Amino acid sequence: MAKLDLSAENFAKLQKFIDENRSETMGLMPVLHAAQEIFGCIPLEVQKYIAKELNVSVADIYGVVTFYSRFSTEPVGDNLIGVCLGTACYVKGSQAILDRFKKELGIDVEQTTEDGKFTLTATRCLGACGLAPVVTINNDVYGKLVPTEVPKILAKYQKEE
Ligand code: FES
Repeated sequence: MAKLDLSAENFAKLQKFIDENRSETMGLMPVLHAAQEIFGCIPLEVQKYIAKELNVSVADIYGVVTFYSRFSTEPVGDNLIGVCLGTACYVKGSQAILDRFKKELGIDVEQTTEDGKFTLTATRCLGACGLAPVVTINNDVYGKLVPTEVPKILAKYQKEE
């Protein structure tokens, strides 16, 4: 289950990374990567910590964290669903697929289910337009999907523990 662990131990890990890599040229990105890895996301508390350590503004950090999809401000569920809303997929009905995921999971885009199992996201073109409409779940790719297949696919991940 996706749980946010803001323990002193995790902050100590982040501090260690910063101390070991501190140099004049140390940029923000490596630290954010480390934070994402350690905490599983970069919430405001962690952003503030990094801002203080690196002497940059929280606004700057927030801007970077929200710009790059590889960073998140909230814990991501065990399974990350990405519904492609690129042009080819959109034309082939990916919005209806996204809506079906929302309905089945009872969450909106960029949200995580209460049990921490699924996070739903919409993505840009995944470079697999021939399979449109495309959905990815973790490293699995599902192509030529129709909304009625959504419950069956979700059931597969519900079982996996
Ligand atoms: S538009 Fe969806 S994979 Fe290209």
